[in-house]
Amino acid sequence: RFPVICIDGPSGAGKGTVTWRLAQALNYQLLDSGALYRIVGLKAFEAGLITEDTSNAIDEQAVLALTQNLKISFVPNNDSGRVDIIVNGEAVGEQVRNETIGGYASQIAVFPEVRQALLKLQKDMATRSGLVADGRDMGTVVFPDADVKVFLTASAEARADRRVTQLLTAGQEADFEAILATIKARDDRDENRATAPSKPAEDALLLDSSTLDANAVYEQVKQHCRD
Ligand code: CDP
Repeated sequence: RFPVICIDGPSGAGKGTVTWRLAQALNYQLLDSGALYRIVGLKAFEAGLITEDTSNAIDEQAVLALTQNLKISFVPNNDSGRVDIIVNGEAVGEQVRNETIGGYASQIAVFPEVRQALLKLQKDMATRSGLVADGRDMGTVVFPDADVKVFLTASAEARADRRVTQLLTAGQEADFEAILATIKARDDRDENRATAPSKPAEDALLLDSSTLDANAVYEQVKQHCRD
């Protein structure tokens, strides 16, 4: 079996950066599990199964059927420092990374059968080479016997601050209070769902990045991998 490193935690804690740098440094594959849920969220929205009104019930069986028809793979992209997502042979645009799709992802991520349908693809990635896996349930559900587990957190305020900076840097508008509310709503849904809630594995290193920059986080995780 190949080594597996799990980096779990909420949105905006800095998982993406540390996961990418570890995968590059170790020459491991990168599993961006959130992208899987984002793709399903996007496709469910496009199919009319998710509407803007979050109080509308979503048809789990229809989302499941749609999930079973997706062929998803990842290709590292050195320019963006992330993986490009290929679905049924076509690259998915960057739009899949936005907060609206993140919200759709967390709405379909509550469905046990949808999670089950995405499980094999995730487990299989560790059968080919070393793996760095980024998500919410990598250490608890997908790779419970992983070699290294880190749960990266930060206060909701620190995460909202980072998001504001990111948006302003990209020349977009950013409203701190609105962003904070969205982050808290997504945390709440991810942490309180019945199946695979977002939480640290018992043997995970808890790392709070509220006052750490990306470099410091990377150094601490790297040190933990050596220990
Ligand atoms: O990048 P960010 O942390 O904002 O989000 P993401 O990792 O792309 O995940 C998007 C959503 O997918 C999360 O809010 C979760 O609801 C869901 N997700 C999950 O349920 N399990 C995972 N292993 C990864 C993501």
